[in-house]
Amino acid sequence: MGSLVNKRILLGVTGGIAAYKSADLVRRLRDAGAEVRVVMTASATEFITPLTLQAVSGHPVYRHLLDTDAEAGMGHIELARWADAVLVAPASANFLARLAQGRADDLLSTVCLATEAPVAVAPAMNQQMWNNPATQSNLTAIRKNAVRIFGPAEGSQACGEVGPGRMLEPVELVTLTSELFATGELDGLTVLVTAGPTWEAIDPVRGLTNRSSGKMGYAVAEAAAEAGAKVILISGPTALADPARVRTIRVTSAQEMHDTVHQHVAEANIFIGVAAVADYRPARAAERKLKKTETKLTLELERTPDILASVAALRPAPFTVGFAAETENLEQHARTKLENKKLDLVAANRVGADLGFAADENSLLLVEHEGVTELPVQPKAKLARALIRHVAARVRAKNAASVHVLRRS
Ligand code: CTP
Repeated sequence: MGSLVNKRILLGVTGGIAAYKSADLVRRLRDAGAEVRVVMTASATEFITPLTLQAVSGHPVYRHLLDTDAEAGMGHIELARWADAVLVAPASANFLARLAQGRADDLLSTVCLATEAPVAVAPAMNQQMWNNPATQSNLTAIRKNAVRIFGPAEGSQACGEVGPGRMLEPVELVTLTSELFATGELDGLTVLVTAGPTWEAIDPVRGLTNRSSGKMGYAVAEAAAEAGAKVILISGPTALADPARVRTIRVTSAQEMHDTVHQHVAEANIFIGVAAVADYRPARAAERKLKKTETKLTLELERTPDILASVAALRPAPFTVGFAAETENLEQHARTKLENKKLDLVAANRVGADLGFAADENSLLLVEHEGVTELPVQPKAKLARALIRHVAARVRAKNAASVHVLRRS
């Protein structure tokens, strides 16, 4: 099952009596860890007030497509990009018809058309309207466009009739929404991830380290777990909590990270080195705290083992992904790393004053032998999911090719 922790859910509310349940739905989505923003159609506001949904979501409710104030803040394209998933609940018969046609004549239909995120609808309507061939053919059309349909349930309806057309209960919708993220793309595979900085001791109280927060590596580990993999995260010192459903092993130095990786790498199908491993360490760590007796102090440094290159050199090696943090010439530096370390893929990101380590957003350039793919600026959790989707497709293609070769030989 997927998780809603840190997921951005855009809830669309259309006009139907079940809209009274939307406030409860927002609360339950937030309780499950999601951030929720609400878009209402004009007729939804006849059933429940925007103020109610603003209060429970903690954000202003979006209603108008052609509103200069709204578009100057978070307009339809920003909302479409912001969402990790779009859930329309309740979805009226009219809304389903408009979705089937790909209309873009109000904010909600436009966001549904403009988003790359998964879209799900929870229909709610009178049973005659549900059973009408027009509605059924609209459902066939939207299903074909990969829109997921949650429900409806059968039972007694607000109009006094009995039959299919009741919106699923909020608790069921929360479960189904979380399952949108359980992609199964890495089912049966094991992924080993390194994250965070390392700490190279100078003496018992001092050391060499860097500003890596570990956020990207943890997000990659979480995304891999969500895609169905068994995940082992080997983390340097960070302030982050262990991610759910991930076996996290804490280490301190580059040497310790190297040794721990090699204890576990034999079972890994994929290795992703996100850690900002120190390239050098003091040649000798003092056993006692150094005293400032001299005016100058020279530290002799030696190279640390290159964990990533050592994994790529294994036979058989897992599908090996490196990270490259660069201030300039992104693609060129990444390609040099790809070739020198004999990797399958390098994910390069730009670092600078307000980009990279501590920031919550970033972009990635995926550099491979066969080409380059750009993942635009987005939250690290979303970026990590896009990276995992890309790696999963590559690993599947590689496995399919090797099965083909085995069959031929
Ligand atoms: N890496 C590693 N072990 C090291 C050093 C780096 O596994 N001892 C991994 C990192 O986890 C990352 C990639 O290698 O995936 C970064 O490559 P690296 O060449 O170390 O990057 P920089 O130090 O930034 O490279 P350079 O200074 O040579 O440009």
